[in-house]
Amino acid sequence: MRDTTPQPIHLADYQPPPFLVENVALTFRLAPTATRVISEIRFRPNPDATPGHDLRLDGEGLKLISAHLNGAEITARPDQSGLTIPAQDLPEGTFDWQAEVEISPDGNTALEGLYMSRGMYCTQCEAEGFRKITFYPDRPDVMAPFRVRIESDLPVLLSNGNPASLGQGWAEWHDPHPKPAYLFALVAGDLVAASDQFTTMEGRDVALNIWVRKGDEDKTAYAMDALKRSMVWDEQVYGRAYDLDVFNIVAVDDFNMGAMENKGLNIFNSRYVLASPQTATDSDYASIERIIAHEYFHNWTGNRITCRDWFQLSLKEGLTVYRDQQFMGDMRSHSVKRIEDVLTLRARQFREDDGPLAHPVRPESYVEINNFYTATVYEKGAELIRMLQLLVGQDRYKAALDLYFARHDGQACTIEDWIAVFEEAAGRDLSQFKRWYGQAGTPRVDVSEDWQDGSYTLTLRQHTPDTPGQPLKEPLVIPVAMGLLGADGAEMVPTTVLELDSPEQSFTFPDLPARPVASLLRGFSAPVVLNHSLSPEDRALMLAHDTDPFNRFEAGRALARDILHAMVLEGATPGPDYLNALRTMVSDEALDPAFRALALHIPGQDDLASSLYAAGHVPDPDAIQAARTTALRLIAEALRPQLQDVANAMQTPGPYSPDARDAGRRALKVQAVSLLARADEGAKAAELFARADNMTEQLGAWGALLAIGIGQEEGAQFYRQWAQDRLVVDKWFSAQVMYAAPKAAAGLVQQLTQHPDFEWKNPNRFRSVIGALGANPAGFHATDGAGYKLVADWLIRLDGVNPQSAARLSTLFETWRRYDEARQALIRGELERIMSQDNLSRDMGEMVGRMLG
Ligand code: PHE
Ligand code: ZN
Repeated sequence: MRDTTPQPIHLADYQPPPFLVENVALTFRLAPTATRVISEIRFRPNPDATPGHDLRLDGEGLKLISAHLNGAEITARPDQSGLTIPAQDLPEGTFDWQAEVEISPDGNTALEGLYMSRGMYCTQCEAEGFRKITFYPDRPDVMAPFRVRIESDLPVLLSNGNPASLGQGWAEWHDPHPKPAYLFALVAGDLVAASDQFTTMEGRDVALNIWVRKGDEDKTAYAMDALKRSMVWDEQVYGRAYDLDVFNIVAVDDFNMGAMENKGLNIFNSRYVLASPQTATDSDYASIERIIAHEYFHNWTGNRITCRDWFQLSLKEGLTVYRDQQFMGDMRSHSVKRIEDVLTLRARQFREDDGPLAHPVRPESYVEINNFYTATVYEKGAELIRMLQLLVGQDRYKAALDLYFARHDGQACTIEDWIAVFEEAAGRDLSQFKRWYGQAGTPRVDVSEDWQDGSYTLTLRQHTPDTPGQPLKEPLVIPVAMGLLGADGAEMVPTTVLELDSPEQSFTFPDLPARPVASLLRGFSAPVVLNHSLSPEDRALMLAHDTDPFNRFEAGRALARDILHAMVLEGATPGPDYLNALRTMVSDEALDPAFRALALHIPGQDDLASSLYAAGHVPDPDAIQAARTTALRLIAEALRPQLQDVANAMQTPGPYSPDARDAGRRALKVQAVSLLARADEGAKAAELFARADNMTEQLGAWGALLAIGIGQEEGAQFYRQWAQDRLVVDKWFSAQVMYAAPKAAAGLVQQLTQHPDFEWKNPNRFRSVIGALGANPAGFHATDGAGYKLVADWLIRLDGVNPQSAARLSTLFETWRRYDEARQALIRGELERIMSQDNLSRDMGEMVGRMLG
């Protein structure tokens, strides 16, 4: 047990910083186990704070060598979390603080602060890592210009901003833009750059570099291309230009998250930079494009305008996710992107919102902020901005954003500031809308309909379930985009946006020629669960004819879900209507192949567990897995000729291109081949594997074989071919786990952890082996509890070296209350065992504590 229970931090306790920083100069003398950091900081009392405060600096794990105030040496005694200089010892007005500390990047396995990744130095400071580098007011509302000097024999020495000067064994950088410490970055290593150039709309020439290890130079072209397109897009769509002379990106192998938007020096998990057709799948390419754009867009939404405190995290993350979604829609296909985004939202955010970890987009308290980089803050945060845009309209959205940039550039802001620019630009009171930021839980919207004398009445009721600590919910403003279809599929009423802002509201559409079919929540206009019971015939009509591509997809999805529920609960079999609708759709050449590929995916195991639970059932992972297997086989048998045609037709002649068109064709081909494997014993998949010249098809084909319990030979071949490529080896591990037979899954993971390539301290590798069990629900939830025990053992082990990654993976357990008593008892036992560990991290303590409730 932890000896002291960490205290939560509350939004309501926010106080402005007593001291501001005018400027910072840092000198780093790099050495693996004894790096010296010298900081020179000019402080100024904050005119907006009450005078007379002590100076409190954050600092963790720092060995203080010396400290000076206005040049005079002082003795300071650091405590666990920093040091305090009493007010009476502080000079009047502005003063200079200087400190020299020693740190050990080599021993830093938490990958927060300054650490080493295979011989290179790098930093990760968001959210509170800078305090592991030197003593500082480590909070985002303290912004300052930084000068950095790096001394090291390594050839490449990088920090934020513009290069200032350079010599043998040292480099100096100057970042003129005031920034919070969380955006500080430093990299030193034996790296090579892929370089390019960009001229901004303001005429600034910017040197672009992507720094990688030797040997990886040939895998940077796509990231560079995505960067340049992001820069153009932000100029054209948001009027935002880049503001430094260089933009550096560095790929590192050991990284807790996806990437980080440090000013002028983005640091990326190498899996979101490096790509070649042979080693990266189409979805890897899409992730690279999205994340490169995301981090670049942060330069304005996050860096120039940052967060006042970490409760406002969604101010930068929700907005930046929304911007990367818009960008991806423009680069690829808006409808396909929307479907993918909604699938992710449901899989991650709805799952979070429906369980013990539910929290508002703007939380009110936290113990460890690293635990709040969540799907709710990111993806639901983006949905709130999408709704705002829908409610105020395109033009006013643009006006609001222009006002936001003009008014708040250089500031650390709040959600209130954000809402205010919309209220002003749109001339509308948004106080009710703002509840979305404070209220956790996914709202349910129940639909009832009435048809009388040519008049159609739609009644919508909203209700948000209880979430931990928030029993009472108020009605939200829910934009419901909808249209009415006639029996022939023609549109009787085109898309209109209804605003549901009371617990119950009715909307009447008079003078209709016939009973309409309502297509509700078009484009998924609000992050809610819509309960609209429609007959299979009406759903089939929408699947065939809805003018809204999202609802077309959704209709097919709902049909599949209803059938799978009936299979799980009553042992039913899919009727001909569904199979016919699917058959027509697959062969419909007017439809985008990417759309057809998505529509061929039946709901996954976790998705079904969640929808069954929502419908009042206790989900049985084995029954769900069995029903899906049967459904997939029946679909494959019923659609065999069409699937064969489509698999043969989806050629992508010419050199490999990761663009949306070719990627969509490959997605449909791989999906068709995967289904066919269930009818042809993998013949076509084995053939595709043998001649694949790109990772999408190679991995897709191997996965299709694994999914039907074969593919051992191909797996061995795959490993022999790719043993030297870390990112591909990650795929080799995770595919085996994902597709393992449920009863064998935990044993297989156990066996893979003995493999010489299982480097458990590398977050990507840990996730690809242990985390992959989350993608195999029937395996994870095997009734003997072996999956639970294995995951708990590894979380405990990882918590000792990397609490942030361990805590993040503990969400494998977040849905535990859905399951039967026996499984709940097993999981509770494991959660309690984790909780009872000595030296449990604050990160893990908070997560497991919340899950136990
Ligand atoms: N701010 C990063 C992003 O959204 C995510 C991140 C958070 C990375 C914390 C590292 C640590 O792009
Ligand atoms: Zn971000």
